[in-house]
Amino acid sequence: MMLSQTGQTDAVREFAVAVGASLRKMGQRELPSMYLYDDLGTALFDAITLLPEYGLTRAEERLLRRHAGDMLEHLPPPVAVVELGSGSGRKTRWILEALANREPVTYFPIDISAAALIKCHQELGHIGAISIVGLEKSYLEGLQEAAARRRPDQTLLVLFLGSTIGNFDPPAAEKFLHDIRLHLKPGDALFLGTDVEKSVHDMQLAYDDPTGVTAAFNLNLLARINRELGGDFVLPHFEHHVQYQEMDCRIEMHLRSTRRQTVSIRAADFTCTFREGETIWTEACHKFRVEEIPGIARRTGFLCEAQWIDTEWAFAENLLIAD
Ligand code: AVJ
Repeated sequence: MMLSQTGQTDAVREFAVAVGASLRKMGQRELPSMYLYDDLGTALFDAITLLPEYGLTRAEERLLRRHAGDMLEHLPPPVAVVELGSGSGRKTRWILEALANREPVTYFPIDISAAALIKCHQELGHIGAISIVGLEKSYLEGLQEAAARRRPDQTLLVLFLGSTIGNFDPPAAEKFLHDIRLHLKPGDALFLGTDVEKSVHDMQLAYDDPTGVTAAFNLNLLARINRELGGDFVLPHFEHHVQYQEMDCRIEMHLRSTRRQTVSIRAADFTCTFREGETIWTEACHKFRVEEIPGIARRTGFLCEAQWIDTEWAFAENLLIAD
């Protein structure tokens, strides 16, 4: 951990700068969604994945369990697996087990959370014929390192699951996929999980569950700012608010100020007054159409070789091969 002269860690300093800049945005104030995922936020997100209203994670797990074998037929052995944002690695076991059945596997989980990497080792370490090399880095830095370490005979399989790609707006998503492509060789693969458009009612409910778990997940961001940056947000004066932007196919999570109020954040050197009803936009969850994936793949240097779609909850697992 690096300590600067003021005694703040670099990570806290970065957090403060990002919070200050996004809250100062003219028009719609924002907070970067990546900061929702501290240890408590990650635990709350894990609870979200168990909600009856949030079918996304279960759909993906069904697809991976059923189709890991079919998917791997497209990849010449030996394969090294890189996972961007591995979390606990729970869903990944199906792919790794199927692979380990045919050959020894190297697995590079990449996560900014050290706790997630430890869980990954616990969850997957017992599978025979797998060596795990955790990388506590951002996605692209981690991918660069994994690509540098892979043996020349290995096919690289990059996993980007859970529709995390939906956090990017469409141009940023394509830029990101293209950046991934730059680290790959022709024939390498990207396995991309994308949540698919469904009825507005179902999408709304998935992000505004009646038990309030998603509300707690969202509000924790303000609590985290209070804890780590010396903020004075009064949590009961903000409420979880979800809206679907039809034009952009995107669910947005906001925090809405229930009254006119002033808030300060010491470490960000920030004070502002919120109007009654004013919102802070905290997360975007883009929803895809199955038919648009091949075009996205082509524009970013891939071919969409196969897609698997869950029948209970519209979600697609897409196999993209580097062109
Ligand atoms: C982890 C970004 C895929 O967009 O569904 C779930 C995050 N936020 N409920 C999603 C989330 C509120 C989730 N991703």
